[in-house]
Amino acid sequence: MRGRLILIEGLDRSGKSTQAEILANRLNGQLFKFPDRSTPIGEIINKFLTDPTFELSDESVHLLFSANRWEKAAQLNKLLSEGTHVIMDRYVYSGIAYSLAKDKSRDVEWLYGPDVGLPKPDLTFFLTVSMEELGTRKGWGEERYEKEQFQLKVKECFLKVLRVDTDPTIEIVDVNGLSIDETTLKLWSIIEARGL
Ligand code: TYD
Ligand code: MG
Repeated sequence: MRGRLILIEGLDRSGKSTQAEILANRLNGQLFKFPDRSTPIGEIINKFLTDPTFELSDESVHLLFSANRWEKAAQLNKLLSEGTHVIMDRYVYSGIAYSLAKDKSRDVEWLYGPDVGLPKPDLTFFLTVSMEELGTRKGWGEERYEKEQFQLKVKECFLKVLRVDTDPTIEIVDVNGLSIDETTLKLWSIIEARGL
């Protein structure tokens, strides 16, 4: 049987990485994290995120994040076809939401374009946390995008891009006020209820 592909999306500091790691262990699966900074394209992305003097056009950045996913696509498909479950920490929706947040007039079809053909998640969680609670979590880092005003725009763009009304594979999960364990319980119950 083909492995399941489960994606966790959310804002910076929403708890994605923690939950992705816990779920990967529980499902005895593999964890993929995007951006993957260890690849050739990931190195350029890392430079862009950490060096404010490194300029790239919005379009180039968008295509690089997508290319970074394509660098891992063959490995991802192989694991899934062998029956290994894969948990992902960010993926296509992050790519679209962050680019759209930079320029709301951007053609969404253009943004989707380079990701067309990538393996599609069986289930996508979008973790939502209020801005107040995000503010109480450990401080923003120094990286590009880690600013409250921008994160607000990203949240709005995620909610626009995630077609929760028409796409049954998407679950928006409110994790406001929940502990790590409570969040895991909530995600796990959805996975079980869907028979994944
Ligand atoms: P992040 O998951 O925060 O990495 P880390 O846990 O190493 O800090 O990702 C880094 C940034 O990249 C984050 O601000 C979101 C952004 N991003 C995009 O702009 N486009 C994308 O396609 C992806 C995957 C991430
Ligand atoms: Mg981050």
